[in-house]
Amino acid sequence: MCGIVGYVGRSVDGGIAGHSALDVVLEGLRRLEYRGYDSAGVAVVSKGAIESRKKSGKLSNLIAELEAHPLPETVTGIGHTRWATHGGPTDRNAHPHLADGGKLAVIHNGIIENFAELKLELLDKGVTFLSETDTEVAAALLADIYRNKLAGDTADGRLTRAMELACQRLEGAFTLLAVHADQPDVVVAARRNSPLVVGLGEGENFLGSDVSGFIDYTRRAVELGQDQIVTITADTVEITDFFGNPAAGKEYHVDWDPASAEKGGFSSFMEKEIHDQPDAVAQTLMGRSDINGRLTLDELRIDPELLKQVNKIIVLACGTAAYAGMVAKYAIENWCRIPTEVELAHEFRYRDPILDANTLVVSISQSGETMDTLMAVRYAREQGAKTISICNTNGSTIPRESDAVLYTHAGPEIAVASTKAFLAQITAAYLLGLYLAQLRGNIFSGQIKDVLADLNKIPAKIQKILDNAEPLRELARSMANEKSVLFLGRHVGYPVALEGALKLKEIAYIHAEGFAAGELKHGPIALIDDGQPVFVVVPSPRGRDSLHAKVVSNIQEVRARGARTLVIAEEGDEAVKAYAEYVFYVPETPTLLMPLLNTVPLQIFAAELAAAKGYDVDQPRNLAKSVTVE
Ligand code: AGP
Repeated sequence: MCGIVGYVGRSVDGGIAGHSALDVVLEGLRRLEYRGYDSAGVAVVSKGAIESRKKSGKLSNLIAELEAHPLPETVTGIGHTRWATHGGPTDRNAHPHLADGGKLAVIHNGIIENFAELKLELLDKGVTFLSETDTEVAAALLADIYRNKLAGDTADGRLTRAMELACQRLEGAFTLLAVHADQPDVVVAARRNSPLVVGLGEGENFLGSDVSGFIDYTRRAVELGQDQIVTITADTVEITDFFGNPAAGKEYHVDWDPASAEKGGFSSFMEKEIHDQPDAVAQTLMGRSDINGRLTLDELRIDPELLKQVNKIIVLACGTAAYAGMVAKYAIENWCRIPTEVELAHEFRYRDPILDANTLVVSISQSGETMDTLMAVRYAREQGAKTISICNTNGSTIPRESDAVLYTHAGPEIAVASTKAFLAQITAAYLLGLYLAQLRGNIFSGQIKDVLADLNKIPAKIQKILDNAEPLRELARSMANEKSVLFLGRHVGYPVALEGALKLKEIAYIHAEGFAAGELKHGPIALIDDGQPVFVVVPSPRGRDSLHAKVVSNIQEVRARGARTLVIAEEGDEAVKAYAEYVFYVPETPTLLMPLLNTVPLQIFAAELAAAKGYDVDQPRNLAKSVTVE
């Protein structure tokens, strides 16, 4: 997500003994550009004052601003590239955010879940806000503590103590960096559920959201742990917990080259993004339900009374996003009992669809710029339908042209083949379905609470799949010369089969086709020849209405005709072993949530096989990340 850099170097006689803070910070932000962002800013501490510049858009805009309005050369500075979550990508919402009369500057990566209540508390104290961001609230809280609660403290160590007290109030995910004019040679940082590493130099020290932020200057790094604060000067690094107790980070040597550092050490952005998926799901869930298990989708600015009247839902999307919609259909119809159709956006408006004011059109788009989807949304609005966008890119066109938006918080997705955005789209669609059910009272609040509890367990289950994927990677490498792979699934496993096939097509250029398993006998089984690889997504054997037996018989049908049966099944499902050449187990979870797990092995398989063929996994031939033409 956001890129963060901090630096303190040594000064001599008021001058710079080592590097210029601004140079280090800008170089670090350039290295972090790959993370994707939509605004950037820097702040330096100079002669008892904070000086800051920030601009929406790319780093080049910030650099132009700095050329027009230069900052002084100093030894202490912080910098930030923002991927907008709360508040659009504007100059005003860009970081750093200032507080304490301009003497404090703060940058942030993550989501402050309780920013709304903190903002009300600070407004009551007379604090005014310039931006829509949760970060400015964190800055104002830090300033209030620094200026008021710690009024009697000496400057030395005061920012660290203020950070400790502020972090005790903050909920959610945050990496915070702060500088204060009273302490010109100090940067204080804190982390919870969001990455932060320290770079150890000689007479200088660094902070970064990852090692790319300082890899040009040092390869000695210290990774901070959960709920830790670090105070750096040119010669010291002190780590404490949120209560001032001494703590220790984990020191290591960075042996990545700068290029692989930009991919977090992974071989491709796609691999990195596959491994980002636990976080993508967790961040998309974060802050959208309360401790009582009620959905709190405040950002969904549509009158709840209108949503209660909805009698039909149409999901519009393309490609992977459309498969996310197909998964969502099963859940939404189950929870809300509202007829839900999933339409390929480029087909939708040419079939004279039936829409009215009680139709809710939900578009799903990672980029928010897919022209097919945008044109379909425009058409739906012209026909009087209410429109909600599920989107990963804040401030993009489709959300802007929708009545409401529910952002996924997967962070920028760089690889053309969509992975973490897909799981985040499904997660957001589940939240929307539960919210509609909550409004309409379709299912008991206890059930909603249970589903949310199950959803909150998904990130750890995805991580378990990622940690145990080596046998699957070996299988993929062994199949690098295959010419065709088929994918079968039933119920929510059917869109998973379609997505697994699309991944293989997109990046390994192999013919691959997904089928509803029940469709086999109606034609596709003619494709089965000796040695034909067939992936089968097997539903859980648990539950009275399980489709397990039917899918197992589908496996037998293809196996009897010579297919290589490659099975994705739930842990503990011994029955499939008798019919499978290869079984990859995923953790148990309720049927409707299974796509969040079953998809991951198929993503890994495709990425590994494509890499084994020597293809560019991130930029496959003929494809663009966002299809902005019809
Ligand atoms: C998926 O791997 C592809 N990159 C493609 O199908 C993509 O999902 C589709 O073009 C929709 O893009 P969007 O989510 O940005 O609208």
